[in-house]
Amino acid sequence: MTDSYQELTSNSALIDWVKHVADLCQPESIYWCDGSQEECDRFCNELVEAGTFIKLNPDKRPGSFLARSDPRDVARVEDRTFICSVRKEDAGATNNWEDPAIMKNRLNGLFRGCMEGRTMYVIPFSMGPLGSDIAQIGVQLTDSPYVVVSMRIMARIGSKVLDVLGNKPFIRCTHSIGYPLSDGKKDLPWPCDPENRYIVHYPETREVVSYGSGYGGNALLGKKCVALRIASVMARDEGWLAEHMMIVGVESPEGEKTYVAGAFPSACGKTNLAMLIPPKGFEGWKVWTVGDDIAWIKPGEDGRMYAINPEYGYFGVAPGTSMESNPAAMKTMEKNSIFTNVALTDDGDVWWEGMGGEKPAHLIDWRGNDWTPASKSPAAHPNARFTSPASQCPSVDPDWENPEGVPISAFLFGGRLSTTFPLVYQSRNWAHGVYMAATLGSEATAAADNQAAIRRDPMAMLPFCGYNMGDYWKHWLSMEGKVKTLPKIFRVNWFRKAPDGKWLWPGFGQNMRVLQWVVNRVKDKVQGHETPFGTVPDYDDINWEGLAYDRATFEDLMAIDKSNSVREFEDQVKLFKKIGENLPEEMEKQRQAMLAELQG
Ligand code: GTP
Ligand code: SPV
Ligand code: MN
Repeated sequence: MTDSYQELTSNSALIDWVKHVADLCQPESIYWCDGSQEECDRFCNELVEAGTFIKLNPDKRPGSFLARSDPRDVARVEDRTFICSVRKEDAGATNNWEDPAIMKNRLNGLFRGCMEGRTMYVIPFSMGPLGSDIAQIGVQLTDSPYVVVSMRIMARIGSKVLDVLGNKPFIRCTHSIGYPLSDGKKDLPWPCDPENRYIVHYPETREVVSYGSGYGGNALLGKKCVALRIASVMARDEGWLAEHMMIVGVESPEGEKTYVAGAFPSACGKTNLAMLIPPKGFEGWKVWTVGDDIAWIKPGEDGRMYAINPEYGYFGVAPGTSMESNPAAMKTMEKNSIFTNVALTDDGDVWWEGMGGEKPAHLIDWRGNDWTPASKSPAAHPNARFTSPASQCPSVDPDWENPEGVPISAFLFGGRLSTTFPLVYQSRNWAHGVYMAATLGSEATAAADNQAAIRRDPMAMLPFCGYNMGDYWKHWLSMEGKVKTLPKIFRVNWFRKAPDGKWLWPGFGQNMRVLQWVVNRVKDKVQGHETPFGTVPDYDDINWEGLAYDRATFEDLMAIDKSNSVREFEDQVKLFKKIGENLPEEMEKQRQAMLAELQG
């Protein structure tokens, strides 16, 4: 394939850039990915031969593979993630920043010769339906075939993307695992360079450069790097929103569909909510999946906000996923999937904590060691993930690839908060809602009490906003002047606990009861009542059919404790101080109003 690129593209900027990167990285060969099944099968076989992939039992898990990463390369690395805007102020206080010239120089040093003895793959990819106005085309150069086959699930890739690209500009993404095979050095199953990782974004020139990691958002550059960090900057410049949100269509028995988008921090339940199956008491209701992680939301001509999921697959947390908690996810990953850092069963299938059923008597754990139920460490890494095509999801929305997007009626924002925050409340207006979203917090651990430190995660975008957080909030606030029919904003909390440490809310499928109330509020079918936080449902506003949930527990779940709340709103000032000069005045005004309301 090395020299056949002339047949694939006449984009001279692309050809020159590929040549330029190859000169720097010194790969043994260059391979232009066509994105075909045949090509993918070939790479998977090569990955098996190299020891990176273990082919799973085709009777149990057809077309699927297990990969075990280097134990030092298991998650996103926020402290090594940089927004290298020209001005430091444009990255803001919540992002790492370095002068772009200095960073480029440093990365050039790391990239020099970094692909020796390897193939450099050229992956043209489209975030968003191929050829639609809303899609963005990028090209990722990588020396990892694991990344190629993963990108093929997560994005639309290959020669068809080059056809659509033509001679237009594209987002440049350069990736290396940072393990050259110089002087006959032997390869490893999961080569990487954990000491020197860098995930770098140049927002003005729309470029991404990633070094040293092969895992998830660090390496599949279409996802967090392009579809969130770079896209958030494009969205700011062009008047739309790029968000860390799942998208669902809630269909009533009458066939009326209401689309809801929801932002929850990483590992806080987006995938679960995106694939919710309505419980007993909701006969005739259906929840349709549009996306589980990222939403691009644009104002439509009719004055409403329309969302697309720019991705093509799911990269979901495996532990905790079971036929009970998420049957649609379990079905989605029945075939053609890549599993990373889960455990291997003796009959060649996968296993993880929280999969349900009995614990197998013997497994190979995510590190490749024997494991029995007596073992002290978990069989799967807590951030073990499945990578599966969205098209395999049984609840996938018929409009999930509609380039026009789906009209959003409500935004949900929810963190993992064991105290203070009720199950659900609605903002009084747009600015109040933006404030509620901006001050979103989440606990690092589940075992938290009143004093638990919450990490503020504005709009669940703290690790993903490609520019100044204060400016991002201004951008959100400015939608009010630009969009006629804005979605209603809600805060939700599935994670409140009783003093004995038990969940106050059953969650998962039961979250349908909250979704229904949200839909009813959007359609003005229920009233609710006012609290200092916002509008909340009365006990009788919620459909309790099929769930024994008494009034007293509901009151505990919805309780607003004055001293806890005052502490919460006072604590928010730390974040506002950090944002500094770019903090929109409106935010502090809202915070003061909340405090006054509580104390009044
Ligand atoms: P990223 O892919 O990292 O962005 O995360 P995500 O938001 O898609 O996370 P995911 O859905 O995989 O979150 C899984 C975690 O949330 C697991 O620990 C689940 O047990 C927990 N979870 C999801 N929904 C609920 C719920 O309704 N109640 C409770 N208590 N836990 C939930
Ligand atoms: C997240 O951390 O929010 C993820 C996983 O969705 S990763 O793609 O690795 O960022
Ligand atoms: Mn995510």
